[in-house]
Amino acid sequence: MCNGGRVPSGVALLTGGAGYIGSHTAVELLCAGWDVVVVDDFSNASPVALERVARIAADHPGAGRLRHHRLDVTDTPALTRVLAEERVDAVVHFAGLKAVGESVEQPLRYYRVNVGGATSLLEAMAATGVRRLVFSSSATVYGEPATVPVDERAPLGPTNPYGRTKLIVEQVMRDVAAADERSRFVALRYFNPVGAHPSGLIGEDPEGVPNNLMPYIMQVAVGRRPRIRVFGDDYPTPDGTGIRDYIHVVDLALGHLAALEALDRLDPFTAVNLGTGQGSSVLEVIDAASRAVGRQLPYEVVGRRPGDVAAIWADPSLAHELLGWKATRTLDEMAADHWRWQSRNPQGYRGAPAG
Ligand code: UFG
Repeated sequence: MCNGGRVPSGVALLTGGAGYIGSHTAVELLCAGWDVVVVDDFSNASPVALERVARIAADHPGAGRLRHHRLDVTDTPALTRVLAEERVDAVVHFAGLKAVGESVEQPLRYYRVNVGGATSLLEAMAATGVRRLVFSSSATVYGEPATVPVDERAPLGPTNPYGRTKLIVEQVMRDVAAADERSRFVALRYFNPVGAHPSGLIGEDPEGVPNNLMPYIMQVAVGRRPRIRVFGDDYPTPDGTGIRDYIHVVDLALGHLAALEALDRLDPFTAVNLGTGQGSSVLEVIDAASRAVGRQLPYEVVGRRPGDVAAIWADPSLAHELLGWKATRTLDEMAADHWRWQSRNPQGYRGAPAG
């Protein structure tokens, strides 16, 4: 059930480690021999996810140990205590808010949680002498790209408050790293994470109506929603629908492991894209999901969603060069694994028996 299999590597603290990407990363780190300490306030995650993470890792000889603390990352004193008591070697910072539309309506909440959370964490790290950090950034920092694929030197210009919080945190990390050259900070700019662990035990569990394409499709597939809404088919793309770089969440998780293990060879601050380098249209994603589910899923074309770009995909070559990492899983695997999770957990973690 694990992909890794290396020597014990130290203690990694994962903020937001019970969430979608955090839980998958926890699995891969545990399997690679890291001890994992999750801090999460469970405001948008379930403790059941951590029980499932432990269950997956338990099947793996040599897996590290998993512990967790319920706390809010903006609570600097509590975070400082955990960093010291757990003798943390490196931090992976996932905790944060991530809904673009909500960030437009409630910008201050986004600045407080995302920017405030990161500065709180950096203060706690400074107080305890922890200097290794991997941060969940986003391709959203590029805004509307002038050319594709997008590499890390492309102009930065997020178009919403959520994206701006990610860019500000990158800037804060850059400044803190410049002030202490022993820092080893990496910002991972994710493209579009989808899929689930192949065990079907952990996966994405959005609250309310999903904002993102794949979870919406999968809720249609289990009958929670009548049909998929395709946001525009008049974009300048081959089939008229938006193109994105979908990346399997297990590949993304392995990207964090690669980043953690490369940190000491890198500059004080580095930003790296995590994507496959390949774009897929909305209709191609619906086709892949329909193949996974075994029937054509119903959809209707509605108007464009404000703020959406026509096409964006990554140039992921820097990640290969610096981290020795490459995504390997196909769109069909992403759809099949997402479907396994959703079909076995139609209501997500809600009501799921623990363990
Ligand atoms: N789409 C639909 N119907 C839906 C949802 C999405 O047609 O119900 C389309 C969108 O228009 C877009 C594509 O599917 O063309 C992907 O949309 P997502 O909402 O899944 O993903 P985005 O690329 O819009 O957003 C993602 C992350 C953000 C991040 C952004 C920038 O969710 O957090 O990438 O990289 F900011």
